[in-house]
Amino acid sequence: MRTQASTSELRQTDVAPRIGTVIETDVDTLLSGALAQDIRALLEQRGVIVFPRIGLTDEQQVAFTRTLGRIVEEGEGGIYKVTIDPLENPNAEFIKGAFYWHIDGTTADVPILASVMSARRLSPVGGDTLFANTYAAFDDLPPQEQEEFDQLRVVHMFETAQRYVRPEPSYDELRAWQRFEPNVLPLVWKHRSGRKSLVLGSTASHVEGMDLREGQALLTRLRDHATQDRFVYRHRWSVGDMVIWDNTGTMHKAEAYPADSGRMMHRTKLEGEEPFA
Ligand SMILES: [Fe+2]
Repeated sequence: MRTQASTSELRQTDVAPRIGTVIETDVDTLLSGALAQDIRALLEQRGVIVFPRIGLTDEQQVAFTRTLGRIVEEGEGGIYKVTIDPLENPNAEFIKGAFYWHIDGTTADVPILASVMSARRLSPVGGDTLFANTYAAFDDLPPQEQEEFDQLRVVHMFETAQRYVRPEPSYDELRAWQRFEPNVLPLVWKHRSGRKSLVLGSTASHVEGMDLREGQALLTRLRDHATQDRFVYRHRWSVGDMVIWDNTGTMHKAEAYPADSGRMMHRTKLEGEEPFA
């Protein structure tokens, strides 16, 4: 581990060379907004920021999220409860789609900027969250491929992601998934900052205008590339941990865990600020 900076308010340590930084600070400093600009910049550079055992309440998590940008109003008071227990969440089946690499919001043109997630209860087995840096994955492609992929467009569909969870849907289930329109997105996202990242994940169905099998082979090869160990940070949760990830420059997934494990995460989101382009 390498400590980059050390002040009385902020200690930050990179957890892996290409992704992930731990910040140790106190609740008052975090809620004051004094670190908000630094956190935003670090988020874009490092993809994931971890606040170990910071133990924010729901109200504090919402207040902290608001220091970083516009919060997505959802759930109870801005808090969305992530659980696959059907007794606690009637949409538990959809959430199991999170067991596979994905970017949130690929069925929209402006995906959420970031998510903030706190661990309230853990599963005794599984339940780690993994993040892959899609900027770094693009940067490490050979220059010839970077150019070759630049103009490719990928069709993303909700049903493609749901088939990972439920490979043999009934007609009615399939039709329900298909209420989300397919969305055609660039394979290479050219961000306003000038940086480029790969847009991949479980919603990616096929490459527009390319032979179906060749396109699917390319998407699978690039997912393998982007999720190599050197681009990935695995967060092993402790209760009270809070993690923010940049949804525009990472993919993420949860390691599978049992539905009755009790695992409960409280999540807030920041509204998107930039369309896929
Ligand atoms: Fe997700």
